[in-house]
Amino acid sequence: MRKYVIAGNWKMNKTPAETTALINEMKPLVADAKCDVVLCVPYVDIAAATAAAEGSNIKIGAENVHFKASGAYTGEVSAEMLTACGVEYVVVGHSERRQYFGETDQTVNLRTLAALNAGLKAIVCVGETLEQRELGYTETLLKYQTKMALTNVTAEQLKNVIIAYEPVWAIGTGVTATADQADEGNGYVRAAVAEMFGAEAAEEITVQYGGSMNAKNAEELLAKENVDGGLIGGASLKAEDFSIIVKAVK
Ligand code: PGA
Repeated sequence: MRKYVIAGNWKMNKTPAETTALINEMKPLVADAKCDVVLCVPYVDIAAATAAAEGSNIKIGAENVHFKASGAYTGEVSAEMLTACGVEYVVVGHSERRQYFGETDQTVNLRTLAALNAGLKAIVCVGETLEQRELGYTETLLKYQTKMALTNVTAEQLKNVIIAYEPVWAIGTGVTATADQADEGNGYVRAAVAEMFGAEAAEEITVQYGGSMNAKNAEELLAKENVDGGLIGGASLKAEDFSIIVKAVK
C-alpha cells in the first residue's frame, strides 16, 4: 500500500514569527488529511515550526542536510542536529541546490545516506532541465539521478525514502507538467527503483510530483497512477491553497 505525502517546501521564506502564524492557520485546515502532511522550512524556523505543529498531524522537515556528523563545515547542519530539533524529514538534492550551490549526484547521495543513517526520512529530488527534455534525455536522466541518489541505500532504508520528480522547467515558473508528463516522469523514477530494488519495493515507494503544483491542478495530477503526492513550493506559503492540495488526496 503506497503512502501519499504532501510536503511543502518553503525555500527561503518566512521568519520564525511568520512560521508560527502560518502553521497555526494551516493546522485546522489539514487536520482531516488522508495523507501525510509535511512542511520543510528554513533551519532558523525549525524551532518555531515544531512548537506550532505539536499535537497536530503536521510533520516538520528541513530543506537540506550535511553528510558529516560534525566538524569544520561552516554554514552546514548535520542530520543529528536536525533530529535533535524534532525534524523528521529532509529535502535532499533540490534542483535549486544543484543549480545554484554546486550540488552534484555524489553529494546528493552522501546527504541522502547521512539523513537515512540518522533516522530521517529523505525527500530526494530529481528532474530534467528543459534542454535535457528537448534532447530526449528525460528517461535516461531521471533513472541516472535516481540510481545515483540511492547508491548504497539498503532495502530497509528505502522505506524512509520519498522521491520527488520535479522537472526543473516547471519549478516556480507557473508552467506545470501535464498530468501525463508527471505520470510518465514518476514512472521512470519508479522503474529505476525497480531495477535497483525489485518490483515490490518500486510498487511501494512514494513518488511525488513537484513543480507549480497548486490548488487548481493538484487533483488532476494526484489522480495519476504514479503520482503519490506532491512537493509544493509557492502554494505551500498560503494556508488555504496548501490545504486544498492536501484535500485533493482522496
Ligand atoms: P513550486 O516549487 O511549487 O513553487 O514550483 C516546487 C519545488 O521547488 O519544490
